[in-house]
Order: sequence, then structure tokens, then C-alpha cells
Amino acid sequence: MRQKHLNQALMRIPRRAESTDRYTLASTYVAAGSFAAMLHSADHQILYGRRGTGKTHALHFLSDLVERTGDVAVYLDLRTIGSAGGMYGDVAVSASTRGTHLLVDTLEAVHEELLTAASERDIGDETKLLEALDTLAEAATVVEVVGQVEQETRVGGSASTEHGIELSHRPKAGLSSRETFSAESRTRRTGVERHHIVFGPLSRALRGITRALGQRRLWLLLDEWSSIPLDLQPLLADLLRRSVLPTAGITVKIAAIERRSRFSEPGAAGDYVGIEVGADAASAVSLDDFLMFDQQRSGAREFFAELFFNHASSRLPSVVGKPASAEAFVEDLFRRNAFNELVRAAEGVPRDAINIAALAAQHAHNEPIAMADVRRAARDWYMRDKQTAISENSSARHMLRLLVDEVVGRRRSRTFVVDQLACMRHETIDELYDARLLHVLKRGIVDHKTPGTLYDGFAIDYGCYVSLLIDGELSSRPRDKGGWLASPKSVPPDGFSLTREALDLTKLGPP
Ligand SMILES: Nc1ncnc2c1ncn2[C@@H]1O[C@H](COP(=O)(O)OP(=O)(O)OP(=O)(O)O)[C@@H](O)[C@H]1O
Ligand SMILES: [Mg+2]
Repeated sequence: MRQKHLNQALMRIPRRAESTDRYTLASTYVAAGSFAAMLHSADHQILYGRRGTGKTHALHFLSDLVERTGDVAVYLDLRTIGSAGGMYGDVAVSASTRGTHLLVDTLEAVHEELLTAASERDIGDETKLLEALDTLAEAATVVEVVGQVEQETRVGGSASTEHGIELSHRPKAGLSSRETFSAESRTRRTGVERHHIVFGPLSRALRGITRALGQRRLWLLLDEWSSIPLDLQPLLADLLRRSVLPTAGITVKIAAIERRSRFSEPGAAGDYVGIEVGADAASAVSLDDFLMFDQQRSGAREFFAELFFNHASSRLPSVVGKPASAEAFVEDLFRRNAFNELVRAAEGVPRDAINIAALAAQHAHNEPIAMADVRRAARDWYMRDKQTAISENSSARHMLRLLVDEVVGRRRSRTFVVDQLACMRHETIDELYDARLLHVLKRGIVDHKTPGTLYDGFAIDYGCYVSLLIDGELSSRPRDKGGWLASPKSVPPDGFSLTREALDLTKLGPP
């Protein structure tokens, strides 16, 4: 009976942070390493992490933390900005118009949130704040994205270049100039739209707000950055860089998926539009890296034990009684080694861990979860979720097959090493990583014989691998020659040559 309640508590853990209130999230949060301290710094940061790595949870945790110290947090889910349902992605509308809407909508959402905060609790000089918010609302109405399209049309023997300056939703006449060039000087590209943004008095309005907040810092937390269409992302980034980031007293944190983000693009005057990550006082922090736990399996075990304990123990009926510790909790739930196997199967991604644990608990019925339950669950999760995520992407599917054939089939391993530069030329590797079918074990491994070449160590997803084991396609558990990659220091064994063992991505597949 007790076991049944324990297993059911595992199944009931929410899969997305959005479905839980902020206060519960603050109490269930487990900080990986120094991540929480880093996140709490006043620096502007871009928080990268693949799906399910805990970006939303981290932002809510931070928002609770800063409000406890008296600061003001504004959390925005960028998927829910604006009322023009889906218009940001409507390619029939020009980027400048969509961009203008996005920028204005975002500012309005910030305005709205601050107004709510001001009415709910004491956050500084109220009269001054309301005044400043009015100024912000006004400033928002004049922000606009201006697109400049360079088009070439041949007129008679010479080519003429037309600079059509398109002003978004406030059409103005007479801004188009026509210049004539000789045929030889036709070096411009055709139809590329370059943007710049008209900010108006926005910076002043923001300074007014921070002044009204007094000692309180404003934390602007932007979630789901990658849900914004790629072509508009640099525009919103530009607005942040030039008006929000330089305002003293405001800290910006952006949660994004690295492969689906574009923070800058070339601008009209040879400059750039957006944020240059790393350079513009906005640094990147990667949750994926923190969740690698430097390959210390014990760190990962501890993290996930805490995570399950925090989420599930509050969901236990009172008859069961609260377990004494995280470690005691997982020992109640899992048979010998089954929890370690779950940690391996999670590959550092909390949502995958939660889903696999829930499936394993289902398989186990009223019994403690066994190794076989975890493996079956990992396979099911791989088939149901991860594999379908790339079902439309034939080149990624093909690459995965080649990798499995070579690494698992021929080399009898789950891990492999590739030359970093060669890897960058293969977009599919990135795509598989993004889809959580490949995982990074270690970046920038050096071979002392060729110190100029850096290697990255990868693992093929546990679920993918275990599905081969279960379905009998592998006769035995392969001996893992790449085991050193997962050891704390990642030192290759004697006689192991990275240069020789590194996978040549161009030579995969049948000769
Ligand atoms: N550090 C953590 N401590 C406790 N629970 C966590 C932690 N990180 C993630 N989780 C849990 O894992 C699940 C996924 O997290 P979350 O929804 O924040 O992911 P995400 O990175 O925002 O994903 P997506 O990109 O899909 O929005 C949630 O149930 C969340 O509570
Ligand atoms: Mg999220």
C-alpha cells in the first residue's frame, strides 16, 4: 500500500514549471552546483538550456528570491505577449511591422506587470512610479522598427538601386530615394532588409522607473525567448541592449534555447542590430553545462534524489509519512541500482528524469521500481517523445542511424569523440543535441600530441541505446571503451589516441 502511494506520487510530479505556483517552485528548487549563486548576480545573463532543463523553474525561483530581499521581479512568458495571436510569425507581414508590434507589446506587458505590482504591494514611491509608468506607456507608442530594403532593378543599360524605406505601421510618404549606378558597381545584394529601431524617449522613461523604485532593483525575467520568430529576435535584443541593459538598477535574464536563438544580425550601417552575447555586458550561462555535473555521478545522483524528494514528498498522503531524507526516499522507491540507472537515463535533463520515473513507476505497479522498469521506461520515453521529435528531420534521423551503427554497432560503445571544428560543420550533430538524442560529456578535450586540436566528447542517448538492448539488437552489453569520458577527470587510458579514435563524421556509413 505504502509502495503504491510512493509510486503514485512520482507519477503526479508536474512536467512543466508553468503548472505550479511560484511559491511551491521556490521550495522545490534544487540548485545544481553554483548555479543559483550565478543566477542571482546582478549581471545581465542569457540562460541557455535545452527543453526541460529547468529554465522556467530557475526564473521563478529567482523571482521569489529577489522579491524576498525587497527587489521587484517582472516575469514575462514571451509566448503570451500581445493579442495579435500568431501575427509575429505571419510571413505575409513585413518584418518591420511584426517587429514593431513585438517591441510595443513587450513594453506594454512590462508596463502592465509593473502596474500590477505597484497596486499590490509597496514598491517605492508610488506617485513617482505611476508617473514614470505613464511615461513608459507613452514612450512605447513611438518605438518602431524601420526596415530598409535594397533592391536592384535594371533600367535600360544601367542598374538603379532603390532604397525603399519602409516605415512599419505609420506610413509616411516621400522616403524613397532613387540613385543610379553604372552597371559595374552592382555589388549590392537584392532584397535584404536591414533594420534599425527608433527608440524615442524610452531610456528616459526607464530611468524614471528605476528612480521611483529607489533602492529596489528591477529584475526583468524573459522566458521562452526562442518562441519569438528568429528574424524578430535581434530586434527585441536591440531594444534591450540600447535601452534596458544600460539602465542602472535593472537586471535582465533571458531564458533561451541556444540552437533556436539569434541575438544579433548585421545592421544597416555596417554595424549590428541586437546583442552580441558575451560582449554586450550580457553573458551566457548554460544550464546544460551545469547539469553535466562535471561527470561526477555522485553529484548527479544527489541532484536528482533531491529533485524527486522535493517534488514528490509533498504529494504523499499523510498516512504514508514524510520520508526522512532524499536518500531514504529514493531507497524506498527504488530497488538496488535502479535509481542510478534512472540518473543515467535522465542524461542531466530534469523533465526527462520526471517522465522516465513516472513511466517506471507505472511499470512497477505496487512494487519498488526495478532496473528493468527503468530501462523499459527509458525506451518508451525515447520512442514516444525523443524519436518523434526528429521524425520530420530526415538528415538528423539519418545521422543518428549512422552514429548508432558506427558507435554502438562497430565500436561497441555509447560514447564517442569528434574534432570540434569538424563537428561545427555538421549541423545535424547540433540538431541531435538539441533534440536530446546526443549529450555532451565534455567539451574541448586536448590531445597532448596535437594541442591545437580540440575534441568534444558525446554520448548517444541512453534511451536510444537501451532500446537496442531490450529489442535484442545487441547481443550483449557492449564493453565501453569510452568509459574514461564519463570519469571525473576525463583522462583517456594509456595508448588511447584521440586523433586515431575520433570519429570522422564525413566517413560514417557504408564505405
Ligand atoms: N533545479 C530544479 N529543481 C527542481 N525541479 C526542477 C529543477 N529543474 C527543473 N525542474 C523540474 O523539471 C521540469 C521541467 O522544468 P521547466 O519547465 O522549468 O523546464 P524548461 O527548461 O523551462 O523547459 P521548456 O524549454 O520546455 O520550457 C519541471 O517540472 C521543473 O519543476
Ligand atoms: Mg520553460
